[in-house]
Amino acid sequence: MIKNALKYRIITYGCQMNLHESEKIAGILCQRGYTECESDNDADLIVFNTCCIRENAEKRAEGNIGALKQRKKSNKNLIIAVGGCMTQQKGYAEKLHDEFPFVDIIFGTHNLEKFGELLDKKIAENLTVIEVKEKEDKITEGTPKTRTSYPNAWVNITYGCNNFCTYCIVPYVRGRERSRDPENIISEIKGLISEGYKEITLLGQNVNSYGNDLSYANFPSLIRKVSEIEGKFRLRFMTNHPKDFSEELIKAIAESDKACKTVHLPVQAGSDRILKLMNRHYTRKEYLDKLEMLRAYIPDIAVTTDIMVGFPTETEDDFQDTVALVREAKFSGAFTFIYSPRKGTPAAEMKGQIDEITSKKRIMQLIDIQNSISCEYSGKYLGNTIEILCEGYDAKKKKYLGRDVYGRMAYFKGDNSLLGKFVNVKITKTGGMSLIGEMV
Ligand code: 5AD
Ligand code: SF4
Repeated sequence: MIKNALKYRIITYGCQMNLHESEKIAGILCQRGYTECESDNDADLIVFNTCCIRENAEKRAEGNIGALKQRKKSNKNLIIAVGGCMTQQKGYAEKLHDEFPFVDIIFGTHNLEKFGELLDKKIAENLTVIEVKEKEDKITEGTPKTRTSYPNAWVNITYGCNNFCTYCIVPYVRGRERSRDPENIISEIKGLISEGYKEITLLGQNVNSYGNDLSYANFPSLIRKVSEIEGKFRLRFMTNHPKDFSEELIKAIAESDKACKTVHLPVQAGSDRILKLMNRHYTRKEYLDKLEMLRAYIPDIAVTTDIMVGFPTETEDDFQDTVALVREAKFSGAFTFIYSPRKGTPAAEMKGQIDEITSKKRIMQLIDIQNSISCEYSGKYLGNTIEILCEGYDAKKKKYLGRDVYGRMAYFKGDNSLLGKFVNVKITKTGGMSLIGEMV
């Protein structure tokens, strides 16, 4: 008989969406009397919340799951659960069960809300529980959450994605786009503000298409409604798809006194030929025109992006188009990725896959260029005093940290009483993506 375990650890891979889903798993566990522990060694239950967007995240998770084989042998009461996007891939749950038969619970992204019941079943029957639903349900409201990112709180607004970019596995593992009712979103945010949260981040694979499946809501109107909520807090949102990034939305951001002056607008590539093969539904010019419109309304907006190199058939000329776009767009920061073929996506079947050496050379060049743009951007902060929302302590740097409204991270000396407070920091040193300063 497995005893009713009381200490849990959740290991999360991937994006904010996954971090927030781990908060939901934690909420379900806390409601059942479990408490979090610091080390895997003390845990009675270890949950892997996985990501399959790129192969390296998948390999890391598999390596870490495999490493628990001996622990499981020496501690028969340890429960190991694996959930998240990885398990939602076709045939993957069976493969995982074959390779790692010591895993007790395998659950998909569409079964997350039921995790408590799956755990009960495991404890009652002591057999492997595999529950991966192929199709998404309607949105479940009211899942408990144990939040871990104070003073920021993540709030889902859409689930799933309808875009089918040819490289991307997300639409296959997260299902079709579903929007939450605006009333539920607003009441969750009001609750969070009254609990003392100072930053709200709205989450969706494409927040811009929020409401497309509802007849009474869209993203600009949601921004306006959230901005009317009383109290001092910052509003962030991600991710934006350029094709749906409209003038109406830009106006809503410009007119909001809560929306941060930063937008994450993934461009992916600067070559029209590659953008078309990616099924992104915009050209390089259309993307740059949207940037221009955004900067016309909000001249100091900080724009960040995602860029991919090594997409099938990418030539040196295509890559140089990306380089030129990066120089022209002047992003305040960029996440750069090497294209990773994902089984079941159209791009994985395309002829002309790019070799690793070429992709690595390209990404290094891109990183170098963006780094110098980011450094130049940070350099402008020198001597300025900025308002920072203090969000944590960096033990290595022995400094507190937080971001300004443009999303720039600053480090400064302080004490624990500053956590969750807005503080003024004068910048004395800059470098790369971060700033160093003193409280004034
Ligand atoms: N390979 C590499 N990067 C990918 N992304 C999505 N799918 C892949 C893939 N197959 C990147 C995109 C996206 C970000 C979240 O991850 O740039 O914007
Ligand atoms: Fe993937 Fe494209 Fe959807 Fe983003 S918009 S989640 S890249 S399919």
